[in-house]
Amino acid sequence: METISAKREHKMSKPDPIEQPSLPSFGDLRVFVIGAGGIVNTAHLPAYQMAGFQVQGIYDLDFNKAADTAEKFGIPYAFKTIEEMLDHVPSNAVFDVAVPGSAMIQILQQLPPHSSVLLQKPMGENLAAAEEILEITRTKKMNAAVNFQLRYAPFIRAARKMINEGAIGELNDIEVNINVHTPWYTWDFLLKSPRVEILYHSIHYIDLIRSFLGNPESVYAKTTKHPAMKNMAPVRSNIIMDYGEMIRANILTNHSHVYGRRHQTSFIKWEGSKGAIKISFGVLKNYPQGEPDKFEYVVTENGKYTDWRTKFIEGSWFPHAFIGSMEQVMLAATGKIAKPDNSVEDCIFTMACVEAAYRSSEQGGIRPGAL
Ligand SMILES: NC(=O)c1ccc[n+]([C@@H]2O[C@H](COP(=O)([O-])OP(=O)(O)OC[C@H]3O[C@@H](n4cnc5c(N)ncnc54)[C@H](O)[C@@H]3O)[C@@H](O)[C@H]2O)c1
Repeated sequence: METISAKREHKMSKPDPIEQPSLPSFGDLRVFVIGAGGIVNTAHLPAYQMAGFQVQGIYDLDFNKAADTAEKFGIPYAFKTIEEMLDHVPSNAVFDVAVPGSAMIQILQQLPPHSSVLLQKPMGENLAAAEEILEITRTKKMNAAVNFQLRYAPFIRAARKMINEGAIGELNDIEVNINVHTPWYTWDFLLKSPRVEILYHSIHYIDLIRSFLGNPESVYAKTTKHPAMKNMAPVRSNIIMDYGEMIRANILTNHSHVYGRRHQTSFIKWEGSKGAIKISFGVLKNYPQGEPDKFEYVVTENGKYTDWRTKFIEGSWFPHAFIGSMEQVMLAATGKIAKPDNSVEDCIFTMACVEAAYRSSEQGGIRPGAL
């Protein structure tokens, strides 16, 4: 074992104490990280530092990356092999696996039964892989969850709280609308991936919509390539999650808007019978610098809707939301809840929606009869 001596943050204004639940103590629970890549360095570990989660060790196929990350974040141990890590893991451990989806199954097979584990999204590269992951976690009786962390972003928690309290009445519309420039080529593994936009990006919005409305009756989708990236899988998507006659749930993403910041957009909007909430989130805009988030809402008072108001929320999607997905695994690991809200048993349905979206896109729409 090697011993190592060893944000992007968009704040709008002062904190809103109501939206920031205090974290319970997790005593001597220790986190062991597998994978020391971009997302671990920019989101997982900064979030855990903020939350005070104790990270004890890190392993990556590339030891130098593990060692550098350990030094940067004051992690006591960096390991050269997964076997070396497992030899030193105490019983009170949580594994945080943040490797490409293709490596997930092989790693899960090596972790001990009854482990607590947080898996980076996606849950494998397709539904078949997700089902295999689910099967392994069931057979090994693991406390396993998926890192669909957008559910726990502070602005989403604030919106959920308002909606649960009835502030905007009965929900009848959710729209996610993205028009930005995402430099896909910065992620090598995506260049060859048979699935890109829905599996690696819109999956967050599919999971988010499920977390508000449950599972849809069906999914319609069209995911489209871009002429500037002819050799890549589709990078733009329109997805309709079908919740019947009275609820509209749409995701529209264009990551190829290369025409400056003026018309870049990225928002999530909820409409209900008594009001609406719109969150313009900044992380995707002017990438990688980002822009501030904005939380706005309108409600009905005395039969009339008020002016739109702004709410100040502390923290953002990256990295703050990463506290929530790990917290769920830790709460279950310490018996404070029966299972994580983001458990593999729940997230398999997000993967099923992703699969349905790709199948819908392949099948195509209905040809106009007169042509
Ligand atoms: N919002 C999010 O939740 C979010 C954002 C970005 C990336 N991700 C996901 O996180 C995962 C990693 O993304 P990244 O941007 O950090 O990629 P990255 O390429 O920067 O890092 C991946 C790391 O995993 C290591 N690795 C690969 N296979 C391994 C194995 N078998 N054992 C140990 N280490 C291994 C690599 O050496 C590399 O250091 C991807 O699945 C991606 O989809 C999620």
